[in-house]
Amino acid sequence: MTRIAAVGDIHLAPGSEGLLRPAFETLDRHADLLLLAGDLTRHGTEAEARVVAGEVAGLPVPVIAVLGNHDYQSDRQDAVSGVLAEAGVTVLEGSGTRIDVDGTAVGVAGTKGFCGGFAGRCASDFGEPEMKAFIRTTRDSADGLRRALDGLAEDGCDVRIALTHFAPVPDTLSGEPLEIYPFLGSYLLAEAMDGAGADFAVHGHAHLGTEHGMTAGGIRVRNVAMPVIGRAFAVYHLHHEPLRPAAPAPPAAALRHAPAPGG
Ligand SMILES: [Fe+2]
Ligand SMILES: [Fe+2]
Repeated sequence: MTRIAAVGDIHLAPGSEGLLRPAFETLDRHADLLLLAGDLTRHGTEAEARVVAGEVAGLPVPVIAVLGNHDYQSDRQDAVSGVLAEAGVTVLEGSGTRIDVDGTAVGVAGTKGFCGGFAGRCASDFGEPEMKAFIRTTRDSADGLRRALDGLAEDGCDVRIALTHFAPVPDTLSGEPLEIYPFLGSYLLAEAMDGAGADFAVHGHAHLGTEHGMTAGGIRVRNVAMPVIGRAFAVYHLHHEPLRPAAPAPPAAALRHAPAPGG
C-alpha cells in the first residue's frame, strides 16, 4: 500500500510562515510522500517561494510538486522552482520521478496543465493565432504528461500518479460557476492519463470545487485544493495489486451485437 498526502493552493506569502509546518512535520505518521498541486505562492515571487521552502524543507517524506498559475504571475517561475528545489522539493513539469516505498516503485508524473474546457464544451485550435496558441499550450502540457507517464511505465514503476494543477475532469469542479469551467482545466489532460495509464490523479486550482472525480477511463481523480479539503493535507491509500494477465479477448460472436453500418 502507498500512502499519498496531497494539498494544493496553499498560496503562501511572507506572513504565513509556520502555517503548515507543524502539520507537515507529522507527515511520516500518515504518508509515504507529499504531493503539492501548484499555487504554492500568491504572486509567484521568490520571497513567497522562500516561505514555501521554509514550510517543506527537511520534511520526513519526499515532497513532489508542480507549479500553478499563481506561481507564474511574476514571470519568475524558474526562480520559484529553483528555490523549491534547493529546499529538496522535486518540481515536475512534463517530467516524472520515481521513489521507492517499501519495495514498491512509485512514479509521479507532473505538469501544471492549462485551460481549454471539457469534451463537448471546449476551445479548439481554430481561427486566430492567439486561439491556436492557447490550445497548443494545453496540448503541449498534456503531451508532456503522457510522455512522463509512459516513461515511468518503461522505468518499471508499480504505481503511477498524475499530478497537475489544472483539472483533468469536470467532476471535481462541481461548485464552481459553469461559466469558468474552460479556465479550470482541460479534457486533454485526462486523455493523456487514460492513454498512458495511471493509478491515481491529483490536481488543485478549483477552490470551490469538489474532492472526488474520475476520468472516462476509470482513473480516480482528487481535487486537493486546500479550500476544498479543508485541512493541511489529505491522505489517500493506494492498494497496489500484483499485475494480472490481461483478460482474454471476447469471442468474436460477442462483438457482433451491433449491425454493421449500412446493413
Ligand atoms: Fe489557487
Ligand atoms: Fe490556480
